Amino acid sequence: MENKKQQDQITQEEVKDQKLKEYAEKLLHQLTLEEKIGMIHGAQFFQTGGAARLGIPPLVMSDGPMGVRQEFLPSQWKPVGNRDDYVTYLPCNSAVASTWNRKIAYEIGSVLGEEARGRGKDVILGPGVNIKRSPLCGRNFEYFSEDPYLTGELAAAYIRGVQIWDVAACVKHFAANNQETERLWVDVEIDEESLREIYLPAFYDAVKKGGVHAVMGAYNKVYGEHCCESEFLLNRVLRQEWGFEGVVISDWGGVHDTRKAAESQLDIEMSVTDNFDDYFMARPLLEKIKAGEIREEAVDRKVKRILVFMQKLHMLNEGEPGNSRPGGEGKETCGKRRAGAYNTQEHRQKALEAARESIVLLKNDQGLLPLKPEKQKRILLVGENARQLHADGGGSAEIQALYEISPLMGLKSHLGGNATVTFAQGYCSGVEKGKEGQEPNWQEKSLENGGARQKGEAEDVLSQSTELKRKRKELLEEAVRLAADYDTVIFVGGLDHTQDCEGNDREDMKLPYGQDLLIRKLLEVRKDLIIVLVAGSPVEMGSWIGQADTVVWSWYAGMEGGNALADVLLGNVNPSGRLPETFYKTHLDCSAHAVGEFGGAKSVAYREGSYVGYRYNDQYGVEPQFCFGFGLSYTSFVYSDARLDSGTNRISCTVENTGERDGSEVVQVYERKKGSKFFQELRGFEKCFVKAGQKARVVVEIEKTDEDAVYCIGSSSRDIRLTLGGNRN
Ligand code: GLC
Repeated sequence: MENKKQQDQITQEEVKDQKLKEYAEKLLHQLTLEEKIGMIHGAQFFQTGGAARLGIPPLVMSDGPMGVRQEFLPSQWKPVGNRDDYVTYLPCNSAVASTWNRKIAYEIGSVLGEEARGRGKDVILGPGVNIKRSPLCGRNFEYFSEDPYLTGELAAAYIRGVQIWDVAACVKHFAANNQETERLWVDVEIDEESLREIYLPAFYDAVKKGGVHAVMGAYNKVYGEHCCESEFLLNRVLRQEWGFEGVVISDWGGVHDTRKAAESQLDIEMSVTDNFDDYFMARPLLEKIKAGEIREEAVDRKVKRILVFMQKLHMLNEGEPGNSRPGGEGKETCGKRRAGAYNTQEHRQKALEAARESIVLLKNDQGLLPLKPEKQKRILLVGENARQLHADGGGSAEIQALYEISPLMGLKSHLGGNATVTFAQGYCSGVEKGKEGQEPNWQEKSLENGGARQKGEAEDVLSQSTELKRKRKELLEEAVRLAADYDTVIFVGGLDHTQDCEGNDREDMKLPYGQDLLIRKLLEVRKDLIIVLVAGSPVEMGSWIGQADTVVWSWYAGMEGGNALADVLLGNVNPSGRLPETFYKTHLDCSAHAVGEFGGAKSVAYREGSYVGYRYNDQYGVEPQFCFGFGLSYTSFVYSDARLDSGTNRISCTVENTGERDGSEVVQVYERKKGSKFFQELRGFEKCFVKAGQKARVVVEIEKTDEDAVYCIGSSSRDIRLTLGGNRN
């Protein structure tokens, strides 16, 4: 019965798609060549041309993965300067990944989609699903994980959430865009097997499981071809093998040749320069078609895909055949395009819930956490990140947020007037915050210098300045002096969007601004120091982690991040985040640096092949600081009674909460197979909430069980609780 129903569903989809194509064909033949050309390249920085004569609107796009970006002037990289385009500033994709919760990913996607629609957008340029090959990549905060399966599962849910709002998600950057150094030109040298095993699957899942309507071609090259013109990636893989019929949009400035782009499977060229008619797929293409050098069919197939795409978003006149839409998962409704809404209370609550679930408890050796609020009379917060705001940085992911709750604000508002919360800066970044909005946006120059982001004084120049060194010494001494005199001392440090930023990669994983020394000095006077790190990628901890008992990790967790952190520190929430990437002791333990190349200019050799992240460290016994999938809880869980049903590819076990606090556990399933080149691979996961003293039966679905494999069920990649032979029913 189920199969018959599924078959009918597929047939209905095919019939509907056919009607969309027929309607697109009908419109196509009414368009002039000039109108068609106008639809396949930017006419403003974030939109294409339309054909008003036929009721075809421009396609309006916006960044980014953490919320809908502010409005820019049509052809100047200057914000319009509205005060009515504030949005919900969401946890970054690394934070979403840290929840290991498909429902959260879906809900964050849904908030983003509803807000994009509410702001009148048709395409939201996200999520970014590039694999975290190295911890040094400046855009890692925009990405999910080092593991393709975890990335694909969460990104697919996120995309489904976006697209119920008649907005297209645009999964990016296709493909192998794993560094910012020389990102416009670097040619990625990787064997095809590893490319398909590690760097393509998340895009495949976005297409097949997420049903993504748009894909963004990356800036870099793969096998010598620019991704936005690539026969291999766009035609052979995306169109032929995966059957993707949606729209491919270039990254902004990712097209370099008229003929290649025209004859490729790219549909829309976007860029950062205001000479829109000079874009490769604009007048130059029009002229080549008129001269008979390029066939008009090359443009027709692009425009047809765009017209089908527009119908799926209910952008065209009512009454066209594509006018029925899922009104949420699976429900069919007809009628006008969804309106969406932005900056709503409900969205802010979703952002808070996701932020709460994203926080990772790394150490709690003395059980200091959660703090007892009634005992907190005098708290000292040390560190610039206690009050630093992060929304408006990072590059195209920047957000104009109505507010952003810092850790300091979160704690103060949670503890209220019976507690004294004192702030000591402790260290200073020396970065002049708040200038971001005034000058033309960095993106105006983003095609120069290999795509590197122009910054002010390079950090090391700043940190060498006598003035800054003196200031840092003073701040450190003051913080250490104060630290002796408080009930609780919490250090809040980490990174900011100076390091976690589009266009640049870090040189290493070291904490900047002299934080290591400050942490060590604080630990000397306060063994009970609570260390909170806020960042978008892991940092070295080796010089103090042995002396630290209590360490908490928070990503850039959006506008409610400070409240979420306070909820965890004060025990309103039991932390359930798990690391979606390996926290190395040093980047030199990462295969991209130990085996491969990273940050190369003209080309970069992924000599490590598929040995990325834990696949390398587990195979070659390289001890991480904290392993893939790691995270502690304020309670404890015991696993028992594991079973594998190879008929349904389901692995189940019982999880008992043996502590005194309700909490969530992430049951992870790793496959270990004789003859495999990997020690183990993540094959499934399921998050479960279990009340104190209760048990839950957890079922983990995996793609396919293997008789010869052993399935390891655990709380992290290195905390295996149960194992199952592959052939037991
Ligand atoms: C940028 C980024 C891309 C972004 C686009 C539009 O260069 O690479 O992620 O969506 O341009 O801002």
